[in-house]
Amino acid sequence: MILCVKLTSYYPRQRTKQNLALGQIGVNLKKMVLEIAGLQKTFGNGTLALRGVDLSVQSGDFVVVLGPSGSGKTTLLRSINGLVTADAGTIKFHNQALTPVNLSRLRRHTGMVFQDFNLVENLSVINNVLTGLLDTSNKFLSMLYLFSRKQKLEALDCLERVGLLDKAYVRVDQLSGGQKQRVGIARSIIKKPVLLLADEPVASLDPMISRSIMMLLRDIARENSITVICNLHQVELALRYSDRIIGLSGGRIVLDKATADVDQAFIRNIYRGHDRGLFFEHATDKM
Ligand SMILES: Nc1ncnc2c1ncn2[C@@H]1O[C@H](COP(=O)(O)OP(=O)(O)O)[C@@H](O)[C@H]1O
Ligand SMILES: [Mg+2]
Repeated sequence: MILCVKLTSYYPRQRTKQNLALGQIGVNLKKMVLEIAGLQKTFGNGTLALRGVDLSVQSGDFVVVLGPSGSGKTTLLRSINGLVTADAGTIKFHNQALTPVNLSRLRRHTGMVFQDFNLVENLSVINNVLTGLLDTSNKFLSMLYLFSRKQKLEALDCLERVGLLDKAYVRVDQLSGGQKQRVGIARSIIKKPVLLLADEPVASLDPMISRSIMMLLRDIARENSITVICNLHQVELALRYSDRIIGLSGGRIVLDKATADVDQAFIRNIYRGHDRGLFFEHATDKM
């Protein structure tokens, strides 16, 4: 029955005719979303995970952080949303430095997509999507899964967007890996984020499903002007779906280019046969 409900357009269209016209005459409407300077993190066991990362990200960018296992990708993403506390450096969100006090403000505007989905398997799909509102809605009511009709319609709208409306009342443990990640994406967009952080969102999926998930992420980001920072270790996916590639190696940024300017053959070549290492450092010399 619920499938008969006419779902309204969830996000306001931000790419207005006026914006497009300004774009055509070369006016840059992009705003700085994130500015990271000198970010350093050493874990308690002495591991240097980030060694002075500087990174600025503008609104609407789809940025892929590409790097082998252990290069610091997860630590960087977790530092941005405050799950890891850096030892040094600053992070500014919309020109305001992040502190423990205003971290919740960033979190309200940030969605997160995880490699292992982070869903509650024995709950329905719609309730998992609604957990995306926990930062923003009444804590007591949301603990009891007492969400408003409006919030439930929003959850259904998000599920429609990721192609899973017909699974809204199915338990998550009945879904395939690709479907679970679609639920993860629906949960991440329900609070209308301006920034989406995705940590290897397709690492546990097969290549065909991985491409469909990356395409969905990119399309949703474009439609709603969401800025995305997506960690990946697959070069092909980074080249195909990103606007910009940041190469991370040994906790340092060793490559930062618009994807269109990246020498594809070269980047594939330097990555081939490596699962760890500092090979990006040679890349920047030649590019
Ligand atoms: N909680 C932790 N305690 C100790 N070392 C860690 C911890 N998390 C990550 N590391 C180490 O920090 C480095 C960067 O890790 P990570 O950010 O997870 O890299 P990636 O996501 O690129 O694989 C690695 O050497 C990893 O072993
Ligand atoms: Mg990681």
